[in-house]
Amino acid sequence: MHQRTEELLKRLELKFRSLPIIPLETGNFLHILVSSARPKNILEVGTCIGYSAIWLAEAAGQHGGKVTTIEIDGNNSKIAIENFRNAKLDNITIINGDALREIPKLNEKFDFLFIDAVKKDYINYFRLMENKLAENAIIVADNAVIFKDKMVDYLEYVRKKYRSVLVPIGTGVEMTIKAKR
Ligand SMILES: C[S@@+](CC[C@H](N)C(=O)[O-])C[C@H]1O[C@@H](n2cnc3c(N)ncnc32)[C@H](O)[C@@H]1O
Repeated sequence: MHQRTEELLKRLELKFRSLPIIPLETGNFLHILVSSARPKNILEVGTCIGYSAIWLAEAAGQHGGKVTTIEIDGNNSKIAIENFRNAKLDNITIINGDALREIPKLNEKFDFLFIDAVKKDYINYFRLMENKLAENAIIVADNAVIFKDKMVDYLEYVRKKYRSVLVPIGTGVEMTIKAKR
């Protein structure tokens, strides 16, 4: 990772530690996944101030991949745009809007999805995305331990239909591959 990006991520961890951004180990986990699976087109639901998007985009940039990230809150989006500028990453696009309304407008296929917004809506984000995900796309859903009760329907759905495991990293992530079990 570029030293400038590493320093920026450290500054963001300190400055925004009161916000629900992913912990450092989840950032590393996402980076390892993206560096090894080499997805070309990543969608994130729930940008906040852009911390996790920077992890994703830095890894994707190594193989020419890009990230689209959706954030409903205008103030968070503004801060995220500033952080992306400071990261000097040119492979992130932010959409300021409600993912439930914005996902249906996306006319592309994605091969990696990171879900980190309203827990009870994980199932809705996923169902809207399902036919836009390529075969063997990877889906990572955050907070799958601490908020598992709020996403029971999502966890049941992906575990029944696809190959899916709970990874006890950070606050817990559910990792799914869109392939038949
Ligand atoms: C847990 S934070 C995301 C943290 C971010 N992924 C990170 O680790 O840096 C959840 C974010 O989702 C946003 N959000 C909530 N509902 C949303 C929706 N329907 N569409 C898009 N963003 C949403 C919230 O405003 C909040 O900024």
